[in-house]
Amino acid sequence: MPAQPRKYRKIFLADYESTTDPLAEAFRMLRLQIQTSVQPNSGEKGNIILITSAIEQEGKTTVACNLAQMCAIAHIKTLLIDTDLRKPSIHLGFDIPRKPGVTDILLSDNQMPAPVVKTLVPNLSILPAGKFTRHTTEILGSPLFSAMLEHLKTEYDMIVMDSPPAGVVSDVGVLVRKVDAIYIVVRAGMTKVRTVRQVVRTIKDLGGDILGIILSRINPKRDRYYYYHNYPHYYSSYYKDEPSESEQHGS
Ligand SMILES: Nc1ncnc2c1ncn2[C@@H]1O[C@H](COP(=O)(O)OP(=O)(O)OP(=O)(O)O)[C@@H](O)[C@H]1O
Ligand SMILES: [Mg+2]
Repeated sequence: MPAQPRKYRKIFLADYESTTDPLAEAFRMLRLQIQTSVQPNSGEKGNIILITSAIEQEGKTTVACNLAQMCAIAHIKTLLIDTDLRKPSIHLGFDIPRKPGVTDILLSDNQMPAPVVKTLVPNLSILPAGKFTRHTTEILGSPLFSAMLEHLKTEYDMIVMDSPPAGVVSDVGVLVRKVDAIYIVVRAGMTKVRTVRQVVRTIKDLGGDILGIILSRINPKRDRYYYYHNYPHYYSSYYKDEPSESEQHGS
């Protein structure tokens, strides 16, 4: 992958100006899918996308950052929110302070505006996680957080939220009904189908609207199934209720 601006090196970002970078192409396709599914410019319903996964280290933050960047590049006014309050990392990738952020607004007695940070990418702003707290589920489940999101929805055409793994911590459970669409990231060849199914079911039972599954870190040799016309898709997504065994492992 071509060199990224120094400030962005900590997160694996696609070269969005390239027409041959497969990662960039995969995120363009994902953006298109979202644009046709959730009407990101409506300014009303349909512009908060939650990125989650069943377990840790599946690529959620990488997907959230790349998707947000791709949307911004298409002149969609985009806000990236770090709602992984337990292990936030978006601030590291974009080299901005972790606080003030989500927790600071919601733990503060005084009503303060969301401390959004503008990035070097035009149309891309970030709301970092904020100071450490043990009350992450309570904060994300609070009416105050819902009100904050409602307000931010009027200011941004697209809001992308990074989150902790849905199968491990309870925070995602309280988020699923506050967002308009959810993508589940699955690390190809690693996560068990049973684990993914369980998370899909839990999110649906909680009333979440799953828009797709994103396969990350596809290995060209191991995951030949995902290669169409010898064109490598490091990430791909598809509309499906639940992934089947063969679809996930592809061999
Ligand atoms: N397509 C990719 N190719 C190579 N490495 C990748 C890819 N996507 C993610 N990674 C790497 O995998 C690791 C985990 O990625 P990331 O932090 O995005 O996952 P996560 O699901 O957010 O993890 P966590 O649950 O710890 O927050 C990182 O080191 C990242 O650089
Ligand atoms: Mg992460």
